[in-house]
Amino acid sequence: MPDRSPDRHAIGLRNVTKTFAGSALPAVGDLTLAVRPGEIVALVGPSGCGKTTTLKMINRLVEPTSGTIEVLGDDQRSMPAHELRRRIGYVIQQIGLFPHRTIRRNMGMVPELLGWDGDRIAARTDELVGLVGLDPDLLDRYPAELSGGQQQRVGVARALAADPPILLMDEPYSAVDPIVRERLQDELLALQAKVHKTIVLVTHDIDEAMRLADRVAILNVGGVLEQYDTPDGLLAAPASPFVASFLGRERGLRRLALRRVADVEVIEGPIVRPSRTVAEALDVADEHGTSWVAVVDERQLGGWIDRAELEALPGSTSVGGLATQRFVATVGATTPLREALDVIVTSRSRMAAVLDGERYLGMVTIDQVAGGLDA
Ligand SMILES: Nc1ncnc2c1ncn2[C@@H]1O[C@H](COP(=O)(O)OP(=O)(O)O)[C@@H](O)[C@H]1O
Ligand SMILES: [Mg+2]
Repeated sequence: MPDRSPDRHAIGLRNVTKTFAGSALPAVGDLTLAVRPGEIVALVGPSGCGKTTTLKMINRLVEPTSGTIEVLGDDQRSMPAHELRRRIGYVIQQIGLFPHRTIRRNMGMVPELLGWDGDRIAARTDELVGLVGLDPDLLDRYPAELSGGQQQRVGVARALAADPPILLMDEPYSAVDPIVRERLQDELLALQAKVHKTIVLVTHDIDEAMRLADRVAILNVGGVLEQYDTPDGLLAAPASPFVASFLGRERGLRRLALRRVADVEVIEGPIVRPSRTVAEALDVADEHGTSWVAVVDERQLGGWIDRAELEALPGSTSVGGLATQRFVATVGATTPLREALDVIVTSRSRMAAVLDGERYLGMVTIDQVAGGLDA
């Protein structure tokens, strides 16, 4: 989990401005931004808004015109180059592997610069291959012999080689097709769950930012910070028309995709125990305004019975002996609310039963799902 204490940060930019020689306007304007240890922050914004320049300033590949940048508590201007390399790994735009070096030597680049001996580099390379999910047979090949996805994994492995606490990634998935991109994004999240780095990721793709980041910084042209918040915070309350248009449509549905059934209160639903009578079952249906009841025995969902069927029977009949229909509209506690909404609106009952394995936890309707956005 990202460290949520407000007074600690892994990277702190304070009033950072960069005006390139010969430009009238700054590429990055008075940017103040703090990144907490262990969180993934996405810098997102239109092309040319200063995302790459910001990353390069953190890594000191570009010097700010004014302002300060702290890395793990130290002003990075006072830091020798090798110290910055130890602290920060960089996945550059377009991957940028050295074409005439084998994969193994590409991965060992930073450790080599840091003066590690050959055995230590070899051991680390073997470890990295496992970490990013590469076939060890690829180590002695050249970058051009690898697919885009494989090259991207090498780029990440190279950045992680010296085990830096901070990882900067510039448009890491722009060179791969959408299917591979999605897989690599999943891999990054799985990797992060193991390595707990502080990650600053640059992208122009808002969906990628929302999917991967704990917090998203939305930049406008000139490197102006429009808003910096969690994906849910952005979708709930965009700070400007620019942010709203950048986030795009269906903000409510996209917020629902970020939350789960476990986040909302369930209702008991129109349920009866098998020992109840048909008359009692009809009362339950009336109370809930439904044309059906579900039979639940010892928290096990049995199935549902149509009201019309109940009405045709003597009121004293016990429900337990009746045939039921299988309840198909079911969700789990971890089902995203957006998916639960889909189950609800496509079900005849307009309700979804929440199950934990076989155990019946309750029902959710559109009201419960919509209530999930109030929290
Ligand atoms: N080395 C440079 N010299 C002059 N202008 C630059 C340089 N690098 C970037 N710029 C300009 O700074 C602005 C921001 O660029 P960049 O940070 O690469 O944007 P992004 O990564 O968001 O697309 C652009 O207008 C770009 O042309
Ligand atoms: Mg860029």
